[in-house]
Amino acid sequence: SGGRRPLVAGNWKMNGTRSSLQTVEAIRDGLAPGLVESLDVLICPPATLIGSCVAAAYGSPVAIGGQNLHARPSGAFTGSISAEMLADLGATYVIVGHSERRAYHHETDDGVHAKALGARRAGLCGIICVGETIEEREQGRALDIVRAQLAIGLPKGATAADTVIAYEPVWAIGSGRTPTPADIAEVHASLREMLDKLAGPEAAKIRILYGGSVKAGNARELMAVENVDGALVGGASLVAGDFLGICAAY
Ligand code: G3P
Repeated sequence: SGGRRPLVAGNWKMNGTRSSLQTVEAIRDGLAPGLVESLDVLICPPATLIGSCVAAAYGSPVAIGGQNLHARPSGAFTGSISAEMLADLGATYVIVGHSERRAYHHETDDGVHAKALGARRAGLCGIICVGETIEEREQGRALDIVRAQLAIGLPKGATAADTVIAYEPVWAIGSGRTPTPADIAEVHASLREMLDKLAGPEAAKIRILYGGSVKAGNARELMAVENVDGALVGGASLVAGDFLGICAAY
C-alpha cells in the first residue's frame, strides 16, 4: 500500500540442511514472472545455507538474507557473524531483533539499534522486528511497546533501501493465532505515524511487514490491511507450495 513495493520474506529460523536447497529452487522456479514485477521475495535460511542459497537463487528474483548479525564488523566474538560476512556471501537483507532473539538471547532495543547500524554499514537492508507479548496486549500496552521498540531500534537517517520494519506480535508467532485485521491496521497505522516522526520524508517509502501465523489461506486478508506492505513468514516458508501461495496473494 502507499505505492510501496510489497516484500514477502521467509524466515526459516533454525531449520534446514543442504537438502533444503530444493525448497529454494522450487520457490525460484515457481514464482510467476508477472508476479515478481511488482513483488520482492526473500528467503532467510540459517547462516550455514546462505552461500548455497545465494548460488541457487542467482539470477532469479529471490533475494537471500541472514536471520541475525553481530553489530561489529569483525573481532574476538566467537561464534558470531557480522553484516560484512553476510554481505560477502551475497546476502542482501538481515533480520534484526526478532522476538526469539530478544527472548532467548537477551537482545535489547539498544542492541537492535546497534545491529541495524551494522546492517547499514555493510550495505544490507535490516528488517527490524517489533511486537508485543500477550500480557502487554492484554494490559493495553501494545502500541506503546511497539512504538518504543521502533523509536529506539531505528537508526537515524533510515531509508527504504536500508530498512524494513516487521510487526510480529509475539503471541501470533507459530501459534496459528493472528490479530484481527482491525488490530493489525491499528498497530501499522501507529507505527507508520511514528516512522513519519523518526524518518521524515523518507518514512513514506519504508515498508512495514506483518508477521505471525501468515499462511496461504489467510495471506490475502492480512496483506489487504491498510499499511501492511508484505509478510514475514516463519513456518509456511519451509514448504515451497505454502510460501508460493502467500506470494500469490499479491
Ligand atoms: O519471523 C517470522 C515468524 O516469527 C513468524 O513465524 O511460523 O508464525 O509464521 P510463523
